[in-house]
Amino acid sequence: MKTGWIIIAAATVLLSAAAAAQSMQVPQPTPGLKPNPVAGKKIYGAHCAQCHGADLRGSTQGPPFLHPVYVPSHHGDVAFQLAVRNGSRRHHWNFGDMAPVAGISADEVAHITAYVRAEQRKAGVIR
Ligand code: HEC
Repeated sequence: MKTGWIIIAAATVLLSAAAAAQSMQVPQPTPGLKPNPVAGKKIYGAHCAQCHGADLRGSTQGPPFLHPVYVPSHHGDVAFQLAVRNGSRRHHWNFGDMAPVAGISADEVAHITAYVRAEQRKAGVIR
C-alpha cells in the first residue's frame, strides 16, 4: 500500500517536471542573427500593437511595454519568445490571458524585442 503511494507520488513529480520542461523550451533565433529594431517595429505593428499599443503604451486589451515591469532584468528577452510561443497567463494585470501568437518565427520575435528595448531606452525606462 505504502509503495503504491510512493510510486504515484514519484510519477506525479516526473510528469509535472516533463510538462514544465516542455513549456520552458525557448524558441531560439538563428545563431548570429542581428536583431533589427526597424524590422521589429513593422512586425510588432502587425502582431502586437493591437493589444500592447502602437506606441507601446498599452491598450484596453494589453499592458504597456514602456513600463518598469518589462525591463530586461524583470522580463528578459526569453520572456518575449515564451509569451509568443505559449501565450501568457494573466498575472501582472487585469487584461486577461495573452493567447499564443501564431505565424511568427523566433527571429521575428528577436527583431520585435530589439524594437521594444530601443523604445524602452528612448523613454528612459531602461537606464
Ligand atoms: C490579444 C492581445 C495581445 C496580443 C495580440 C499580444 N499580447 Fe502580449 N500580452 C497580452 C496581455 C493581456 C498580457 C498580460 C498578461 C499579464 O497579466 O501579465 C501580455 C503579456 C505579454 C508579455 C509578458 C509575458 C510575461 O512573462 O509576463 C510579453 C513579453 C508579451 N505580451 C509579448 C507580446 C508580443 C511580442 C506580441 C506580438 C507578437 C504580443 N504580446 C501580442 C495581450 C496580447
